[in-house]
Amino acid sequence: MSWSSPGGPGRLAGDGAVVARAPAKVNVHLAVGPLRSDGFHELRTVYLAVSLFDTVTVRPGDGLSLTVTGEGTTGSGPDAVPTDRRNLVWRAAELLAERAGVPADAAITIDKSIPAAAGLAGGSADAAAALVALDALWATHATRGELTALAARLGSDVPFSLLGGVALGSGRGEQLSPVLARRRWDWVLGIAGEGLSTPAVYAELDRLRAAGRVPDGEELSSPDPVIAALRSGPVPALAAALGNDLQPPALSLRPDLRRALRAATGAGAAAAVVSGSGPTVAALAEDEESAVRLTAALAGEGVYRTVRAVHGPVPGARLVG
Ligand code: C5P
Repeated sequence: MSWSSPGGPGRLAGDGAVVARAPAKVNVHLAVGPLRSDGFHELRTVYLAVSLFDTVTVRPGDGLSLTVTGEGTTGSGPDAVPTDRRNLVWRAAELLAERAGVPADAAITIDKSIPAAAGLAGGSADAAAALVALDALWATHATRGELTALAARLGSDVPFSLLGGVALGSGRGEQLSPVLARRRWDWVLGIAGEGLSTPAVYAELDRLRAAGRVPDGEELSSPDPVIAALRSGPVPALAAALGNDLQPPALSLRPDLRRALRAATGAGAAAAVVSGSGPTVAALAEDEESAVRLTAALAGEGVYRTVRAVHGPVPGARLVG
């Protein structure tokens, strides 16, 4: 494969900057199978991309450098965002450069709105946006298929961050089938407390299963009711179909989340579910107006660090400008 191109870089601004953004996701259905021999769990999940975006700006540079601004830049636990090779964006840049046969030269800035380690795929969004932005900066002309293959090597959720919309995910989450959903869904995201480590939540699920405290996961629950509801509604149908096998382990590690879930339904959400590995609570609203009311009510409850009204589906990683 040769992606090197003699064409000039795809610059969108005067100083040679290229800007891309990518959305957060909510898993409206997350069925987790047993632990596989490769350390991952087999999944059946329905991803929904929602309107909370991280922005990645890349400029010509000498070697790689990374700056992070916005949400999560002061964290010290799992929500701390590293600015070196531990950041998925750094690895995305190295991987794209290597595969395309170009030098990994770029000054990269991530402007975060998606909280880290929150079950919203913030790191995956950054990696997906970086792939799209660097592909333009370096004029590597990768196809969507090639970018998706690189995304899958970076992390289970990165292919979905590229794709966006609604998709059924299988394998470890990286094998995607797009789902057509015509209507808009309104949600309120409540970020409760400090970040949770995804591997720790999966490990807690394995522990609860070994102790017989939750079903063993040999039979993955069907995503069909969620997909049918997402396509056409109504809201109570989606509310009834939401499910997440990572919710019990997230609650086990963070018992306070119970109160956060109750606060959401108590304030009028049609349903509330932990998003991915948590600790974000995704509260389903009847419509946009209800979401605004719910946001105000939940902001006053004091159980969440941040409360944001969002809607989905929205597109995946795209150039901006
Ligand atoms: O793919 P990603 O790097 O996002 O996964 C982070 C961690 O989450 C993995 O190392 C694994 O512990 C857990 N995981 C899993 N099964 C999946 C996806 C993630 O056990 N399908």
